[in-house]
Parts: sequence; structure tokens; C-alpha cells
Amino acid sequence: MRGREHRSDLPTLWQSKAARFPAWLNQAVFYQIYPSSFYDGNGDGIGDIPGIIQKLDYLQWLGVNALWLNPCFVSPFQDGGYDVADYYRIAPRYGTNRDLYRLCREAHRGGIRVCLDLVAGHTSVEHPWFKASCQPRRNRYSDRYIWAPSAIFGPDAPLSFIRGYSEREGSYVANFFYFQPALNYGFARPAASQPWQRGVDAPGPLETRKELVKIMTYWLGHGVDGFRVDMAASLVKMDPGRRETIRLWREVGQEVRALYPETALIAEWGNPEESAAAGFDVDFMFHFGVPGYADLMLNEDCFFRRRGGRSILSFLESYFEQEGRAAGKSLISIPSANHDIKRPRADGRSLSDLKVIFTFLLTWPGVPFVYYGDEIGMRYLVGLPSREGGYRRTGSRTPMQWDDGPNAGFSDADEDKLYLPLDPRKGRPTVQRQASDPASLLNHVRSLIALRQHSPALQARGALIPLTVNENDRHFAYLRQSGNERYLVVLNPSAEASAVRVNGLGAANMSPQVCHGAHVRAEGGDVQIELAGVSYGVFRL
Ligand code: NOJ
Ligand code: CA
Repeated sequence: MRGREHRSDLPTLWQSKAARFPAWLNQAVFYQIYPSSFYDGNGDGIGDIPGIIQKLDYLQWLGVNALWLNPCFVSPFQDGGYDVADYYRIAPRYGTNRDLYRLCREAHRGGIRVCLDLVAGHTSVEHPWFKASCQPRRNRYSDRYIWAPSAIFGPDAPLSFIRGYSEREGSYVANFFYFQPALNYGFARPAASQPWQRGVDAPGPLETRKELVKIMTYWLGHGVDGFRVDMAASLVKMDPGRRETIRLWREVGQEVRALYPETALIAEWGNPEESAAAGFDVDFMFHFGVPGYADLMLNEDCFFRRRGGRSILSFLESYFEQEGRAAGKSLISIPSANHDIKRPRADGRSLSDLKVIFTFLLTWPGVPFVYYGDEIGMRYLVGLPSREGGYRRTGSRTPMQWDDGPNAGFSDADEDKLYLPLDPRKGRPTVQRQASDPASLLNHVRSLIALRQHSPALQARGALIPLTVNENDRHFAYLRQSGNERYLVVLNPSAEASAVRVNGLGAANMSPQVCHGAHVRAEGGDVQIELAGVSYGVFRL
């Protein structure tokens, strides 16, 4: 990839090697649901689990076969539920545990798996463990969190200490916001001079870890299929190379999989080499840490821009570096967006632009994640007041737009009771309108999902062969292959027309599957592809 060009060598295929992850992940297309905003089943203005159950028909129609729900446990919701106050109970605003069990049963009937969000690194300050831990008198939970001895002087360690929160003489470590005290999994190398730093095998950290396994097996026992693990790399403190955190997850994963072998573990880690070593099946690598995702989707000059965009080279460099490190042991996920980042429908992008993006996401290796509403091109809403610790993320968390009825069909509540305001624009995209339009983004996404489900070459582990890219290219073409099945994908996100020539492809038949503005001509064994501005094509060879 040096010299700002990516050259492919057609006979040498890159292919992820066999791995031990659950087979269902190879075909998985995930759909991420922010529960407060998907569908309100009881008219209180907030989405809920019975609401999700009511919309399973839609998800089945769309063709996704796995869900990730953001945290849905008891919580004061100071950070959208990433501040858990009871890991064993569904938040009343979302329903009951029985509702969740029913969601699993009904989703499974429709061929859809259900993964929950596991906030393993911290709790809410409202969690009874933390309240007990705040007590000056020693008790069972004194060591469930990390406390340094003085409430007045924070120790000299690269951690965030919160001082003066309770009557306990000490300061606690916060993992993210101040109200998210870090659970105590110990320190990789506790300093002898700092006895408050416990080793990973000390009784306090071991108890925490036991509880983690208990939480996981509790939900798996009720039909859940896996977890997206929040800040998975954060557990053991001051852990160079994350060696102890890796060991911890490997052991926890083994314990859990001994009972539930099909469990999917999806890391928010951002380092596939480390997360694969820790036993995770999937890692999101592109929205933080390494630069690839921003170069693809977010930056002003990212690849998916009509004007002013760059070539896909910097993304590919980052992707192949990370892919190589994962060494076929785990899969990489490139999400359409998530609850922490801008939706793709932002910065002036139109529905046609999103069609090019989804053509890429749904024909790329690894595990695609569709963030609710991106399939219809819901907008990132700029400037919304923060809700429940959302801050600028709030604009990606607004209610799903189902139809043209009141509240876009999201809820029967009065408009001012809605969890967040809806996109106020007239003509905002809705499922109902797009479902009945064969040329809509929604039907485009649906066709691509169906194609992927029926084509091993396009799934997680099909081979990927990118064709030559030069620094100034604004198009990108690649092959996907498995056995005799072969696809050519071409993308041109820019407003300018372009052309690609593929020499030696030797394809007599090129049958367009999902195509707009891409025209192919076979010339001997070569292929010439003319690409209109903002065009895409998936051809079966
Ligand atoms: C990552 C989650 O995605 C984010 O929403 C949350 O605020 C932090 N972790 C803290 O749990
Ligand atoms: Ca509700």
C-alpha cells in the first residue's frame, strides 16, 4: 500500500481464516436499536420492549437477523442507561424482564438473534453496590469499586478520581462520566507503595468478576444470544498492552461459552488484535482509536462525499492493518453509525448518497451493523438540547419515523411528552412511504441484505479482493468471492463521472444485482465500467 496506491494481485486472495466464532455470525446483519426511540408500545412517549416486539415484523421484512439493544436495565439514565443500577432487571420504562424474554422468543421465531449491551466497566452511583461501597464502615461491597485512601488528596495515577462524594474517607475512580464509578477488576501491576491498588486475583476483583459471569449467564439463560460489551478494554487498570484485561475476558468468555457455546461477544474495543486475543468475535474498530472510519464516513474530506472527498486509500490502509492483526480470529464491524456518532444523513448528504454508502457496508466483509433509522436516511439533528447525557450525540437518538401520522407513528403520546423531538422537516423520511417505493433507500437496503443472505461470497468471511486504487481515484471497485461464487462491486460517491477498467477479469457474464448509473462492457477478458456521478453496482460474475 506504500506509494499511495493500492495494487491488487488478482490470484492472491485475502481471506479470513477459519475461526472459532459462532457460525451464525458469518451471515449476521445486525440492527442496532436505541430502545427509547424505536417504538412506544404504551403511549408514554418513550420507546419500550413491547414496542420492539410489535415491530419485529418490520425487522423480518427488512431481513436483518440480529439485534443489538442499547442498555435496557434499571438506571437513573444520566448516560442513556450506560449507568446501570440493577443488571438483573429491565428498566420499568422499557417493560419487564418477561417482556425481554418474550422479545427473545418471538425474535428467534423470526430468525432474529438478540444481543444486549453489557456495561461491564462501571455502574451508576445509584447502584446499591456503590451505595454500600460509599459507607465508611467496611462491608461486602467496600472493594467492589476502586477507592484510593484519601478524600482530600487524589493519588498520583493516570485515572479520574472523584473526591468528596460520600462520607467514606477516600476518592473513587470514574470510568467515563463522574457518576460512573469503575468496578474493581484490579490493577495489572499494583504498586507496593499503593496498597489500595489490588491485584487482579485479590478477593475484591475476583468477586466483581464472578458477578460479571453471573450477569452474563443470567441473561443467556433467558434466551439472549450475546452481548455488545461497553468499553471492554477498560476493566483492569493501568494494564500495559491490556494483558490482564485480555486474560480476564478470555477466562470469562470460556466460562460463559462452556454453558452457552453460541454466545456472540462483540467488543467496543477498537483494537481487533487485542479484542481477538481476548476472545471477542467482533470488534468495532472504526469510530475511535484508529483513523479509518472517519476517513470513510465522518471527516469533511472523507471518501463518502460528493465533493471534496479523498480516495479510499487511507481507509484501506487502516482496514488492512487492523484486519491483518485480527488474523482471521475475529471479525471487524463497520457500522452505518451508532448512538455516539453522527448519522450518515448529515452534512448535506442525500438519500442517493446513502445508497452508495449502504452498497459498500452491506457488501463488505465482517459484520454490518445498521443503526435504526439509517435505512430510511433519518437525519442527524443539529443543535438539539442534550438529553440523558447525550450532548452532541443526542441528534443521532431521535424517534424512529414510521409513517406520516402524528409523531411519525412513533408514539400516541402528546408531542411534548416524546423522549426527544422528531425531525421537524416536512417530507422527513418514513418507513411507510419508502416501503411502497421500489426506488427508495429502504428498498435498496432491503435488496442488499437479501442478496448478502443468499450469497456466501458477500458474507463475513467471503474473500475480499480490492482492485487497484490510485491516490486521486474517487471510485472504488472490489471483488468478493467464495467457492465459485464471485461478485464485482463498484462505487462512485463523487458527483463526477468516472470509469474503471479491470483487466483479466475473464467474466463473460456480468449480471447486475443492485445497480444505478454503472454500465459494464466486456472487452475480451477485460471489463470496462462507466460510472455516472453518485453511482454503484453489484454484479454477479
Ligand atoms: C460507550 C457508549 O457507547 C457510550 O454511549 C457511553 O456513554 C460510554 N461508553 C460510557 O459507558
Ligand atoms: Ca413506552
